[in-house]
Amino acid sequence: MPDFLEYIEVPFTADEGRVYPEEAEDRYPESLVRAFVNEFTKPGDKVFDPFLGFGTTAFVAEDMGRIPYGIEADGERYEWAAAQLEHWMNILHADSVDIGSFKLPRMDFCMTSPPYMPAHHKWNPLYGGDPAYAGYDTYLARMAEIFAGLSSIMKRGARVVVQCDNLHHGKVFTPLVRDIGTAVSQNFRQEGEVMVRWLKGRADYPYTHCLVFKKT
Ligand SMILES: C[S@@+](CC[C@H](N)C(=O)[O-])C[C@H]1O[C@@H](n2cnc3c(N)ncnc32)[C@H](O)[C@@H]1O
Repeated sequence: MPDFLEYIEVPFTADEGRVYPEEAEDRYPESLVRAFVNEFTKPGDKVFDPFLGFGTTAFVAEDMGRIPYGIEADGERYEWAAAQLEHWMNILHADSVDIGSFKLPRMDFCMTSPPYMPAHHKWNPLYGGDPAYAGYDTYLARMAEIFAGLSSIMKRGARVVVQCDNLHHGKVFTPLVRDIGTAVSQNFRQEGEVMVRWLKGRADYPYTHCLVFKKT
């Protein structure tokens, strides 16, 4: 892995011409995606995001001459992102656990940021809070299932970058970086972890983690 990818500094705000909705607080900045797309892909490559959110990965991929694909479970987010993409037909409004059933082409690269769950919460963001699927262990098991499906559509040798944070809630600490890394590692080989320091913004989380995996 190239040396520079052990630590990078990325502006958190105001680096993009596109105006995102005010409620888009859980998205990552375009410049973060650009750094990894630049490192791991070439023009024409297929770039996937199983938790598309407001479409940041897809917008950057398209701007850089790559072909974006993605899945987003929330209808409003899906519509907002798809409406602005030339490749809108590659974006699906669906649950990523079904990745393997959509007849998607093999992808060259994936970059994503999953929804976060604190270990002491019951509300599982992967099930939209359905009480039948409460609990951190269920969340992690579902995460592993989603990445198992992702593995079936990634080309051999392709990289998968997962951005995530450890969570601090008062005295409760959730080692989400470790736990998501373990879930993803059931189907990918972890190659590294890039520490990212946010320049400007985010006093609560001045750093983030980008885990880099390879489909073997
Ligand atoms: C942290 S956000 C991603 C933000 C995105 N990186 C961006 O820059 O806009 C996680 C997203 O995953 C979506 N999501 C949660 N569970 C999902 C599932 N099972 N399948 C697909 N999307 C899901 C949420 O609706 C949310 O938009």
